[in-house]
Amino acid sequence: MSDIAFSRREALAGLSALSLTACAGTAAPAASSPAPGEGLHAIAQRKGLRFGSAIAYGAEGSDSGSIGNPEYRRIIERECGLVVAENEMKWQAIRPGPDQYNFAAFDAIVRYAKAKGLDIRGHTLLWHRPKWLPEWVNTYDYGARPATEAARLITSHIETVTRRYRGVIHSYDVVNELFDDQTGAFVDTSLSKAMGSHEAVVDLAFHTARAELPGAELVYNDYMSWEPGHANHRAGVLRLLEGFRRRGVPCDALGIQSHIEMRTIDRKTGIGPYDLKEWRAFCDDVTGMGYRLLLTEFDVKDNGLPADYAARDAGVANYTRAYMEVMLAYPQLRDILAWGMVDKYSWLQGFAPRADGLPQRCCPYGDDYRPHPMRAALAELFAGAAPRA
Ligand code: G3I
Repeated sequence: MSDIAFSRREALAGLSALSLTACAGTAAPAASSPAPGEGLHAIAQRKGLRFGSAIAYGAEGSDSGSIGNPEYRRIIERECGLVVAENEMKWQAIRPGPDQYNFAAFDAIVRYAKAKGLDIRGHTLLWHRPKWLPEWVNTYDYGARPATEAARLITSHIETVTRRYRGVIHSYDVVNELFDDQTGAFVDTSLSKAMGSHEAVVDLAFHTARAELPGAELVYNDYMSWEPGHANHRAGVLRLLEGFRRRGVPCDALGIQSHIEMRTIDRKTGIGPYDLKEWRAFCDDVTGMGYRLLLTEFDVKDNGLPADYAARDAGVANYTRAYMEVMLAYPQLRDILAWGMVDKYSWLQGFAPRADGLPQRCCPYGDDYRPHPMRAALAELFAGAAPRA
């Protein structure tokens, strides 16, 4: 049913079939077109949506997707209403030791965003993975009262960060990625071992954030997705969110990272396979419990598409369309953030290389800073979205 070796001709043929299927199968978006030259956030805003992107720190003139790259900045300022630091607010970046903090790089991003009138999301108060915690956390000596000491490390971190950016950051990924994506079981860290359970860690993180920021949006963020193979991950996240409601944990929203991927291609549609019924059931369950939704880290892995640029870009735009049509149908969704705006600076170039060695074409803009068809697809989707209250 799917095949990695997929030709350009098949890709383009599949794409016309897909548009017909899309027209027949989903509610047509309200007719409306983006005005020429209008940025994605401006288009989104007309519908009560917001569009933004990840951005990195970089010294002025640096060749990166950062505040130091004038060409990258131009795209951010034209297209975005909010930004999120790709790495600079993580424990690895700001907490070099148990009682030390270093906010220099993140502060520079905050200063830039404020100067440009961009909102800022906080990512993340706790990425619960040994691989992405500083090594000192993984090897920490918690002493005679491990639970008390772990609680101190977590609360002091969250208090320090939220107090520093009070009035500036109104939406936080409080906890990021708790699960083994294959089994849906919690992944241990030294913190969860010291505290005796994952729930103890996560609940404390959310309660501490709420105590500091009564009015902020508190988000659980993860990469469970709509492709086949994500069922256990989705089930784990649902159990977590149900548990939050039972225990009165103050979590407002689910951050759906949306690193959507086409590792293989369905010959009937010309794009990657996805479990639409199961995915909608998942989103319905989440919103049914009263959670809002955010798309926090959107990009598209194009590994299964042919090398040819036109076919690849069309496939990426069509997969974007299929996904966003489903997601924009949820009135609980307001914020959509890309995980970077320009292909060459995307994490995917290093983390998900294509078999043919060619770069991924995964972001709204190409390496020449010109928009991909994905960007036009997003503009049309936002323009056609139902207005939010
Ligand atoms: O800055 C150092 C550089 O000094 C050093 O020479 C180089 C050598 O490896 O590493 C550089 O740091 C890298 C950093 O990105 C900045 O580029 C790290 O190795 C690398 O591991 C890190 O990867 C980031 C990853 O999270 C881990 O923090 C990616 O950029 C970032 O896109 C990715 O973002 C995550 C979200 O936070 C959570 N959801 C998934 C998403 C993608 O993995």
